Amino acid sequence: MSKKYFIKTYGCQMNVYDSSRIADMLKNQGYEETLCQKDADIVLFNTCHIREKAAEKLFSDLGRAHLIQLERAEQGKQTIIGVAGCVVQAEDEQIVKRAPYVNFAVGPLMYHKIAGILHDIENKNAKESVINTEFPADSKFDFLPENKSQGACSFLAVQEGCNNFCTYCVVPYTRGAEYSRPVAQVLTEARRLVAGGTLELNLLGQNVNSYHGEDENGKERNLAYLLRRVAEIDGLKRIRYTTSYPADVDDDLIACHKDIAILMPYLHLPIQSGSDRILKAMNRRHTSGDYLKVVEKLQKANPDLRMSSDFIVGFPGETDDDFAKTLEIVNKIKYIQAFSFKYSRRAGTPAAVMENQVEEKVKKERLAVLQDLLFDYQTKFNQECVGKVMPVLLEQKGRHKGQLIGRTPYMQNLHVETKDDNINKIIEVKVTSATTNSLSGKEI
Ligand code: SAH
Ligand code: SF4
Ligand code: F3S
Repeated sequence: MSKKYFIKTYGCQMNVYDSSRIADMLKNQGYEETLCQKDADIVLFNTCHIREKAAEKLFSDLGRAHLIQLERAEQGKQTIIGVAGCVVQAEDEQIVKRAPYVNFAVGPLMYHKIAGILHDIENKNAKESVINTEFPADSKFDFLPENKSQGACSFLAVQEGCNNFCTYCVVPYTRGAEYSRPVAQVLTEARRLVAGGTLELNLLGQNVNSYHGEDENGKERNLAYLLRRVAEIDGLKRIRYTTSYPADVDDDLIACHKDIAILMPYLHLPIQSGSDRILKAMNRRHTSGDYLKVVEKLQKANPDLRMSSDFIVGFPGETDDDFAKTLEIVNKIKYIQAFSFKYSRRAGTPAAVMENQVEEKVKKERLAVLQDLLFDYQTKFNQECVGKVMPVLLEQKGRHKGQLIGRTPYMQNLHVETKDDNINKIIEVKVTSATTNSLSGKEI
C-alpha cells in the first residue's frame, strides 16, 4: 500500500499554490493524498506568519498532530510531521524547541528539498529534526516537478518575495527579495495547465505587478508583456493577477485592462489606509491621491472594472481623523469586496517597536465600523447584479442535488440549478437574487 500524505494550508494564495506543487512532488514519489489526518504517514502544515493569530493556530494544530503521532506509534506506524511556509522562516529553530516532535521544517524557498528530506527521515538517516531555512541561489521553481491542473481555476506563481518593506509586514523577511520567473517557464506552465482543463488562470506574486522576468532573448519584461503572452494561449478563458502594489501600476498594465478581453474586470489593489500620514508611517510608496488616480485610469481603460482591497486599522499612531480618511476612500472607490484586519504587532518589523500603539479596544471598534461600511458596498453591488446575465465558471457541487456553485467575473459566488456535467464549464446565468456573500441565478 502506498504511503499517504495530509497537507493543511494556512495564509495566502501563494501558499495554496505552493501546497499544490508540494503535493505534485509527493505524488511523483508515489505518495497518495488523504483528507483524514489519522491515516497520514506524512502530515505537513504550510504556514502563515502574517498576523499573530495565524501563527498561533499552527501550534494548536501541531499539538493535535503530536497526539495522533503517538497513537499511531502504538500501532507500529511511523508519522512524519513537517512544517513549511512563513512561520518556519520567521521562527527557525524555535519551532522544534517548542514542538520537538516535528521531524522537519522547511522555509518557503526550499520546498524542492522535501522529497530528499523525507527519504532521509524514513530511512533513519536523519535522527534529529531537519531544518532548512536557506535563501538559496537557485529558484525552487527550477526543481519542482511539472504541476498538474488543479481544475478549471488554477493559480500560477510568476513572482515571489517583496522589496517593499511596509513597516508592519513580515513578508519581505519570510519570502525574501523579489524574484521573477522567466517568461518561457511561466508560459510552459500556463500551457500545461490549460491543456489539463484550466479555463481561469490567476497569476500570483506577493507584488505581482513588479514582475520583471527575462524573456526568451534575455530581455527583461514587465507584467503587461506577460499578460499579453498568456492571453494568447488557446482555450484560456479568464485571466486574473494578484496582488498588486499601487505605486507599481504602470500605463502598460493599465492598457491591458482595455486590450485583453479575457482579463477579468476585477482587481485586488490594497490601499491599507486612506490617511497619507499613516501610509507614510507604513512606508507605502503612494498617497491616497496617487491611488485614486490609478483607479481612475484603470476604470477609464475598462469602465466595468471593480476594485477590492486590504485594510489595516489601528496602525501605530492612527487617530480618529486618520481612520475617517480610510472610510472616505471606501466611500469614493465603493469596493465590491475587501479584507480588513486589526494591526498585529510582528516581531522584527519596524512598526512593532513604534511607541504610539493603538489600544485593542479602539482597533476592535474601528474594524467593526469599517467592515459594516465595506459589507454595505459589497451587498449593494451584489444587488445591482440582479437581473444581469453573467458568465459563471462552475467549480463545485452545491448543497442541494442539481445545484452547482461557480464564480462570476467579479469573484462573486453564484448558486445555480444546472446539470452536474457542467462542472468546470462556463455557462451564462441570469442573476435572480443576491445577499452579501453570494448570488443565485437561472441558467439561460
Ligand atoms: N503583498 C500583498 C499582500 C500582503 S499580506 C500586498 O502588498 O498587499 C496581505 C494583507 O495582510 C496585507 O495587504 C495587509 O493588509 C495585511 N497585513 C500584513 N501585515 C499585517 C499586520 N502586521 N497586521 C495586520 N494586517 C497585516
Ligand atoms: Fe508586505 Fe508591503 Fe510587501 Fe505587501 S507590499 S508583501 S504588505 S511588505
Ligand atoms: Fe502568510 Fe507568508 Fe502568505 S506570511 S500571507 S503565507 S506570504
